[in-house]
Amino acid sequence: MDQSIIFDLNLINRYDKAGPRYTSYPTALELHEGFTDTDYRWHIAKSNRAGGPLSLYFHLPFCDTVCFYCACNKIVTKNRGHAAPYLENLCKEIAMQGALFDKGRIVNQLHWGGGTPTFLSDDQMQRLMGATRAHFTLRDDDRGEYSIEIDPRETHEGTIERLRELGFNRISLGVQDFDPKVQQAVNRLQSEEQTFSVMEAARRHGFRSTNIDLIYGLPLQTVETFSETLDKILAAQPDRLSVFNYAHLPVRFKIQRQINEADLPTPDVKLAILQMVGLRLTEAGYVYIGMDHFARPDDELAIAQREGKLYRNFQGYSTHSDCDLVGFGITSIGRVGDAYIQNVKDLETYDKLIRHHKLPVFKGVDLDQDDKLRRAVITQLICHFELNFAAIEKEFAIDFADYFAREIEVLKPMQADGLLALSAEGIAVSPAGRLLIRNICMVFDRYLAQKTRQQFSKVI
Ligand SMILES: C[S@@+](CC[C@H](N)C(=O)[O-])C[C@H]1O[C@@H](n2cnc3c(N)ncnc32)[C@H](O)[C@@H]1O
Ligand code: SF4
Repeated sequence: MDQSIIFDLNLINRYDKAGPRYTSYPTALELHEGFTDTDYRWHIAKSNRAGGPLSLYFHLPFCDTVCFYCACNKIVTKNRGHAAPYLENLCKEIAMQGALFDKGRIVNQLHWGGGTPTFLSDDQMQRLMGATRAHFTLRDDDRGEYSIEIDPRETHEGTIERLRELGFNRISLGVQDFDPKVQQAVNRLQSEEQTFSVMEAARRHGFRSTNIDLIYGLPLQTVETFSETLDKILAAQPDRLSVFNYAHLPVRFKIQRQINEADLPTPDVKLAILQMVGLRLTEAGYVYIGMDHFARPDDELAIAQREGKLYRNFQGYSTHSDCDLVGFGITSIGRVGDAYIQNVKDLETYDKLIRHHKLPVFKGVDLDQDDKLRRAVITQLICHFELNFAAIEKEFAIDFADYFAREIEVLKPMQADGLLALSAEGIAVSPAGRLLIRNICMVFDRYLAQKTRQQFSKVI
């Protein structure tokens, strides 16, 4: 498939409104407390009967210092002692959940996210992986996709080698911006040496894929300063790049009130930065995967997209569509069979439930047939920018034009604007519509109309 993008300023300006990122459908907002651990057990038993590989997600929430832009689920503390009781509970949760999943189900994908996973000591990380190996069937042929989020400021000599020995083969480094003034304004001081020495160590020790996280729209950023950050990043040739749009929601994320709003780039400057990023990364040979993600053409994500095998889950884009996703630790979200499940959000409740040998389920949602159908449509569009009606009709026994008559009417003005082409066979998103893929997916979101748009960040 053609993986190009066209940056149409006029279109982007017109379509710039708040919307979900569709790492799931229904989005996490639909999870409710009526879903209990009993429901979760029922879904696990059902998914065991269907079988298939697993994907495991571990949430490690601690951070040593806070970055003022941060919208992640984190606990900021200088006290390293906090990690030990959390780790013990996590190991107990692994044992509890491990007893419920069939041992024949191979773990094809594993991810440690945060917070900052390397807040744990090397020995603690070893303990966590050991507990996982004891209760789940991990691959030992290095063919799984085992990834970890790394804050280069929290990575000491030897950590990368230890992580490789534990079985990790993919790494994602948080950078955001190298400009000293921007770093000061967001309270994240991180040198190039720190960053690139971690990347070199990852390559030396045989990590297969390196990703770098950047954010555009941070205070004091300009096209010129962000372009200089890109120069440095491109020279290091990461396999993947995530260039996130800064989501400034100070009502929801209190720490963002530390950011001086007068320092935030204007919408015009943000768009100019985005345009520059798109141009420069394409010139440098990266392809646009979708939703802030770029990859080298020989990276697995780019290949999976060309082959029609890309998938999207809570960690972003992925090549493992067939896996049930099992979440561990506070705030983690899983998808098992036809349900999404979220764990409790605070340490005290987590500790209490684990001590009572209860699964720490907080919320969940059971997908009905309409949810599954819309999820298939949205996933296909957001991963591949095209949708074949016949494939959906066959899978869900519907007549697409009939079932989605309202949605097709809403898509027509988008077609007139050049975002997509509608035909009797399907939808093809145009290179100018790719940066606005969220808007196209939003048309198929049954819940969105009921929501106040403020709950989501802007599209661009
Ligand atoms: C859990 S952090 C990555 C690991 C590690 N804690 C670090 O910062 O290096 C995940 C990523 O989310 C992104 N992020 C956090 N807050 C954001 C926000 N408000 N808007 C956009 N991206 C954000 C950052 O790019 C960050 O690297
Ligand atoms: S960006 Fe990473 S290091 Fe910074 S506060 Fe958020 S989770 Fe912690």
